[in-house]
Amino acid sequence: MDMHRHPRTRVIHPSILYFGTPVLLITTRNPDGSTNITPMSSAWALADRIVIGLSGGGQGLANLRRERECVLNLAGEDMHRGVERIAPTTGHASVPAWKAATGYRHEADKFTLGGWHADASVSVKPPRIVECPLQLEARVLLDLDRPLEAWRDSAGGYAIIELEVLHVHAHDEVTVAGTQHVDPQLYRPLFYLFRHYMGPGKPLGRTFKAEV
Ligand SMILES: Cc1cc2nc3c(=O)[nH]c(=O)nc-3n(C[C@H](O)[C@H](O)[C@H](O)COP(=O)(O)O)c2cc1C
Repeated sequence: MDMHRHPRTRVIHPSILYFGTPVLLITTRNPDGSTNITPMSSAWALADRIVIGLSGGGQGLANLRRERECVLNLAGEDMHRGVERIAPTTGHASVPAWKAATGYRHEADKFTLGGWHADASVSVKPPRIVECPLQLEARVLLDLDRPLEAWRDSAGGYAIIELEVLHVHAHDEVTVAGTQHVDPQLYRPLFYLFRHYMGPGKPLGRTFKAEV
């Protein structure tokens, strides 16, 4: 048998299925007007819609439910140390028991802890994270015929939320001058891959639809 074309497989039972998605830092507004930052990676985009998955009990989710707007700040690969500094924290004043048991603590000022700076948004109240190469202002898409409970809260305590992107901010250094395009060679996202931080690797090719 050709071992290259027919790799042997076995059935495994991994504790998580984080197969590699970009790290997003979601900024939301707390009830007192301060800003929370939720690091997360369960997100995917289709056109101007982004679907995110957030576990229950977090401050970012509570803020999103209340204010229905946020900024999805895409972390660059050079931001992994700051992301890991805020990783074991929650903006929620009372840390849920299951989180405290895994070492989470409350942190009111994740901007200072991460070493980042805030800049005002155009169409939503939460600020953007200046250091992130892409910053997407977004609002929760509500089907007005359906109540808020229609957000899919699974038995496991996860909310799956659809967002509409309203404004895209991009660092000049990651765009192609004079165009609307992000340059895939210059944009260096941070990925979360089976609980490890990874960079994007080397370019392998382009699709027939690539514009740059
Ligand atoms: C790299 C990374 C990816 C994460 N991805 C997710 C995710 O996709 N969904 C989620 O609910 N939590 C995710 N978490 C965990 C949250 O960041 C954690 O629950 C945090 O306490 C939420 O903060 P908040 O309560 O202030 O919103 C991730 C954490 C890190 C560091």
